[in-house]
Amino acid sequence: MKKITIAIDGYSSCGKSTMAKQLAKSIGYIYVDSGAMYRAVTLLALRHRLFTHEGQLDTDALKRMLSKTDISFRLNTETGAPETYLNGENVEKEIRTMEVSSHVSVVAALPFVREYLVKRQQRMGQEKGIIMDGRDIGTTVFPDAELKVFVTASPEIRARRRYDELKAKGQEVSMEEILLNVKERDYIDSHREVSPLRQADDAVVLDNSLLSREEQLVWLQNLYAERAGE
Ligand code: DC
Repeated sequence: MKKITIAIDGYSSCGKSTMAKQLAKSIGYIYVDSGAMYRAVTLLALRHRLFTHEGQLDTDALKRMLSKTDISFRLNTETGAPETYLNGENVEKEIRTMEVSSHVSVVAALPFVREYLVKRQQRMGQEKGIIMDGRDIGTTVFPDAELKVFVTASPEIRARRRYDELKAKGQEVSMEEILLNVKERDYIDSHREVSPLRQADDAVVLDNSLLSREEQLVWLQNLYAERAGE
C-alpha cells in the first residue's frame, strides 16, 4: 500500500474526528484535528481578554500574539489519542468548552489566522500517511489529497451528539443552546470569505445520520484500501 493523504471535511459535530481517529488507529496513520488549532487560537484570545462584551475582537493584538505562539499535538500515552498543546501547556479540555465554541467562528474567519494555521497543517502533512479533519482540508490545505471525504448529518442529530459529549464530560448545557450554536456555526463556516466550508469537487459524500460507528469505519477502510492500493 502506498502512503496517502486523507482529508475529512464537513459540518461541526458530524463525528468527523471520531471516524478520523478510528481510521488512523486502524491503518497506523497520524491524525490531526485542525479544528483544535482554531480552538487553541480562540482560547489564547479569550485568555488575553481580546474579546469585548459585544464579541468584538482586537485583531491587531491577536496578530502580534500569534507570531509568538506555538500550537502542537502530543500523544497521550494512556489513551493513545493526540492532545492539543498551546505554548507547551495541555489545553485539550479547555478548548472544548462552550465558551470557546461560541467564539471560534469569528477567529476562524480571520485571513491571517487561517494563513498561519494552514501553513503549519501543510508542513505536518509533508510526509503523507496523515488523516486531517476540518472544513477546508480537501479544498485548501491538501487539494491533492488522494482521498477526500465530506461528512454531513442533520443539525438535530449533531446537536444531540454534542450534548451527549458535553454531558459525559460533566458540563452543564442546554439542548436549545447547542442546537443554536450548531446552526450558527454552520452559517458562519459556510459563508465566510476565506476558505468557506464547501465540498471539494472530488470528495466522496457521507451522510452518517443513521450509520453506527462500526459501519462508518468499515465504509472508510474500504475506501482507503481502494485509494492506497491503486
Ligand atoms: O471541528 P471543530 O468544531 O472543532 O472546529 C472548530 C471551529 O474551527 C469551527 O467553527 C470551524 C473552524 N474550523 C475551520 O474554519 N477550518 C478548519 N479546517 C477546522 C475548523
